[in-house]
Amino acid sequence: MSTFWSLWIIVLITFNLGLALMLFFWGQRVKVPVLPDGTTGHIWAHGVLRESVRKLPLWWALFSASMFVIGIVYFVRYPGFGAYKGTLEWTSQGELASDSSANLGKLQALLQSYEGQTLAQLAANQEAITIGERLYVDNCAACHGRNALGNQILGTPNLLDDDELHGGDETALMASILNGRIGIMPPIGAAFTPEQVTATAHYVRSLSGLEHDAALAQTGQATFTTICAVCHGAEGTGNPLLGAPNLTDAIWLQANDIASIENLIRNGRTSQMPAWSARLGAPSARLVAAWLYSRQTR
Ligand code: HEC
Ligand code: HEC
Repeated sequence: MSTFWSLWIIVLITFNLGLALMLFFWGQRVKVPVLPDGTTGHIWAHGVLRESVRKLPLWWALFSASMFVIGIVYFVRYPGFGAYKGTLEWTSQGELASDSSANLGKLQALLQSYEGQTLAQLAANQEAITIGERLYVDNCAACHGRNALGNQILGTPNLLDDDELHGGDETALMASILNGRIGIMPPIGAAFTPEQVTATAHYVRSLSGLEHDAALAQTGQATFTTICAVCHGAEGTGNPLLGAPNLTDAIWLQANDIASIENLIRNGRTSQMPAWSARLGAPSARLVAAWLYSRQTR
């Protein structure tokens, strides 16, 4: 705070407190002229009310006086009187820092008590999965949805089904969360004629039993086997090492109409799951994983 504003505030406080104190003392002693009938002669409401003078009750005077004392003590002890810091040296940042470090201490102790437990054990612990759910909502829900069911528009996977891009065991799940993942479906269309792209799209749909043109699908199979099978497997069942999805199930990351699949083959797609090790740390990330685990249908 600059000296000017500090002085400005000091002047305002001194002036206001001083004025109020002066009125307070003056009010106790001032003599108001009174008529013989005991009123001041002021008449209100067409003569219904006549103003008289009463001394202020003692409790009121004492109460007001104590307010002045409290106000002054406050300005001595706490910040508020311009740039003066107060004898307690209290700051809101200091309070926040001490509260946060107290909370962090409690959290660390709690996280330590969870160490060495399997996801299945943590998932059975209501307290652990309540924390995991909060962390999930703060860090993951924006992409994977509040209920972890994924988002086809963003192309983020459902985290509760048993169809995993990168493998479904505990190690794979923790690796996905801590190190992030990247799924690269390369743009392949340039090497194909538009007819080949369409035929391949029909073959892809045939893999999961969706409506397709059987003749086109048969032509598409050749392309699939030479190019796509490298990542998606000869049967189209996917490859968790590459994050290539299983194309034979009913679960899709994105829209599965012919036009969308053609578009994907032509332009490819890169999906990135950010790494959370720095932000969450392994012990907290395990709680998120435990919450997911508790909700997965296995
Ligand atoms: C910026 C968006 C985004 C955020 C935030 C995000 N994810 Fe992801 N996540 C993705 C994408 C995209 C993928 C798919 C990556 C791929 O295609 O290989 C993914 C993949 C995953 C996978 C692998 C799924 C599988 O089938 O193998 C897991 C597990 C996962 N995320 C968990 C989480 C958790 C837990 C959080 C919060 C700590 C989180 N994600 C936050 C975008 C996100
Ligand atoms: C280099 C490996 C690679 C090759 C080659 C490849 N893909 Fe992919 N494909 C992927 C990956 C990885 C993804 C997941 C992308 C993501 O996570 O967003 C994917 C996604 C897809 C999807 C979307 C699935 C869904 O659930 O939404 C389809 C369809 C697909 N590929 C078809 C094909 C076809 C057809 C070919 C051949 C023309 C092909 N892929 C070649 C790696 C590959």
